[in-house]
Amino acid sequence: MPLVPLGRAALLSCTLLLLASACGGGSDAALPSDPADWTWSLPAGFAPPVVPADNPMNAAKVDLGRRLFYDTRLSVNGTQACAGCHTQGLAFADGRAVARGATGQNHPRNAPGLFNAAYQATLDWANPAPRTLEQQMHTPLFGEQPVELGVNDANRAAILQRLKDDAQYPARFASAFGGPIQWDNVVKAIAAFERTLVSGGSRYDQARAGTATLSDSERRGLALFFGEQGQAHCVQCHGGPNLGGGAFVSSEGSVGGSGFYNIGLFNIGGTGAYPAGSQGLIEFTGRPEDMGKFRAPSLRNVALTAPYLHDGSAVTLEAVVALHADGGRVFGPGPYTGDGRASPYKDPLIDRIGIGAQDQADLVAFLRTLTDEAVVNDVRFADPFARP
Ligand code: HEC
Ligand code: HEC
Repeated sequence: MPLVPLGRAALLSCTLLLLASACGGGSDAALPSDPADWTWSLPAGFAPPVVPADNPMNAAKVDLGRRLFYDTRLSVNGTQACAGCHTQGLAFADGRAVARGATGQNHPRNAPGLFNAAYQATLDWANPAPRTLEQQMHTPLFGEQPVELGVNDANRAAILQRLKDDAQYPARFASAFGGPIQWDNVVKAIAAFERTLVSGGSRYDQARAGTATLSDSERRGLALFFGEQGQAHCVQCHGGPNLGGGAFVSSEGSVGGSGFYNIGLFNIGGTGAYPAGSQGLIEFTGRPEDMGKFRAPSLRNVALTAPYLHDGSAVTLEAVVALHADGGRVFGPGPYTGDGRASPYKDPLIDRIGIGAQDQADLVAFLRTLTDEAVVNDVRFADPFARP
């Protein structure tokens, strides 16, 4: 057997849990594994997300999924976990311009936050294919371009063996699935945990419920954002309960569909091209008109997920709002030089955004009301291996 890197996981869990006299897997026996016993803990106004029929929720599975999400043993060299690129305090984004995988390779894109991802009709910045969290996970686990966790055909059995050799996982998998430690169950458990990452308690939500008051500037920003007749047009792309992120799908149905847009970030050599390897929807459809189209991201918790845009190229909220207001961005010098504002692929709505300096400041103030302090500090989502 190859050397098993002793992740924080292996090292700490027993020491800590001994104190709670739960080492060896006893603790999860208490967690219900019958889906009939599962109850959602959701903010007001949120129906449960859609749950695939072959992966029903249960408490033992969610708890197992949380451990796996934070466990560095799931990566090729024991250095990276899902949580390495998706940090709770940053609304499960990572604070980097572009993410970095287990082997040090840079990802071409920025790591998005994960709250409410369970409600998104599509996942990732521009990929129309993954429709469920289970499907999405094949990329970070098994993807090779770029390597994220670095699981591949050569090492997948050995990585699974690390879990089988653990003092707790065998009992936890048995309790969650009544079944063995296998990749399909690893994916299902993590997806079940991700479905519990629901955020709907920001000051914006509280103001809607009448339990908080927004400042004048925040209220002006809110009115601009949602104003159907106004000059900002934000809600037309960042619509629905998640303020973007594509169509919102809950167990009650679908609301506020939105698609993929080019907002004029690049126009290499006047051709409208985006940098190779990060051209958006066109890479999946092959249609020339999809050049530079990316999903309008959900803006929930956006103040925590800097830097911004698919490539992390905008550092502040002020900068992002300004480049929407400017009708795109002039990029250069260097190989990607061009005036994105003149891109032939830019969405026509971007030119209709007519907002001055005060409007932009008000919009930023509004965007900052979308932070949900409770969920980023919620112990249910925290690292189970962390020292107290
Ligand atoms: C190397 C850093 C990295 C690691 C490790 C990583 N991710 Fe991600 N994640 C990203 C990036 C970057 C994206 C955006 C990918 C894209 O659009 O091409 C992403 C996207 C996602 C999305 C889509 C969110 C949305 O709004 O559409 C989900 C869900 C997700 N990751 C879950 C996970 C899970 C679960 C794991 C562990 C199995 C994981 N990630 C590991 C960097 C990472
Ligand atoms: C035509 C559709 C469209 C309109 C209108 C629009 N946006 Fe966007 N927005 C997008 C897209 C698409 C992105 C991501 C672009 C990329 O990364 O290439 C984005 C990105 C953002 C981001 C960065 C989010 C992140 O996580 O990186 C913020 C903030 C934002 N928009 C705010 C606004 C505000 C405020 C308005 C109204 C003034 C607005 N948008 C209007 C489509 C739109």
